[in-house]
Amino acid sequence: MATILVSSPLAGDAVQGLRQRGHEVVQGEPAEGLGHDGLIAELERHPGTEAMICLLTDRIDEQVLAAGRSLRAVANCAVGIDNLDLQALRARGVVATNTPGVLTDATADLAFALILDACRNVTLGDRVVRAGQWRGWAPTLLLGPRVSGSVLGIVGFGRIGQAVARRARGFGMRVLYSSPRRASPELERELGASFVSLDELIGSSEILTLHCPLTPATRGLLSRERMLSMRKGAVVVNTARGACVDEAALVELLRSGHLAAAGLDVYDREPHVSDALKSLPNVVLAPHLGSADRPTRERMAQMCIDSVLAVLEGRTPEHVVT
Ligand code: GLV
Repeated sequence: MATILVSSPLAGDAVQGLRQRGHEVVQGEPAEGLGHDGLIAELERHPGTEAMICLLTDRIDEQVLAAGRSLRAVANCAVGIDNLDLQALRARGVVATNTPGVLTDATADLAFALILDACRNVTLGDRVVRAGQWRGWAPTLLLGPRVSGSVLGIVGFGRIGQAVARRARGFGMRVLYSSPRRASPELERELGASFVSLDELIGSSEILTLHCPLTPATRGLLSRERMLSMRKGAVVVNTARGACVDEAALVELLRSGHLAAAGLDVYDREPHVSDALKSLPNVVLAPHLGSADRPTRERMAQMCIDSVLAVLEGRTPEHVVT
């Protein structure tokens, strides 16, 4: 029977499945996970640990793997894998997996929540009401950019980008996308989405939403220069990874009014959010909730358990990334 380290409590009771099979589960207590150093400490305390379930905030690098010499499987409870040193994992023959597919709709839903909120001032209005500052309906109260009928630019047209396009149809939006690979003509037709270059996308969109993975190619993709080339009054939404956007430049352009608003779920140094961002009224700040509907998080946990069990039982897991 194996020892399995789980970085934090997970949604649902999938972890019970490991115990029922007789495995020993060492589970981190903090809801936010043990983190890089905490995982190392637990791996040193349990030297025979054969599998680990980690969070997107746990950096899995050579140091962690050196502490977990018996590790055979690392299941990342996320679709993004920018926290994994794939080279180090491969070099040690550790199988790493992620959780694609199950969080597509949840993340697209949250992107839309941020689109609607950033444009239509729901959170800002809530603050006004709670502060007792609402004096009644006014023709100029909290006016924002339109959502219905606007031009939506989608950066990255994988599962989540496509799910956002599907939702945009219901809002009568004109959907443009850019992606390393162009979708099939059938899919473009079905989603009513037009393929354009990244620069054309950025220059044309009224609302720009990011759905690309964080890779060396996408780090800093939404640079100051690119944001300056956006239409005046455009809106930026990011549910991908914070490092895809130049956060300081975003603050500057939101402050100057070049950009009307932003909706952010991800940040460069989570959970740190700069005071500059927090001081802006025209930004909606969510605490990385993209996949946070209950059934989705429960499915992600189950996928991690299934992946770990597959490796321990000598099978190939479904979503190997190494
Ligand atoms: C969330 O950000 C994920 O990568 O699953």
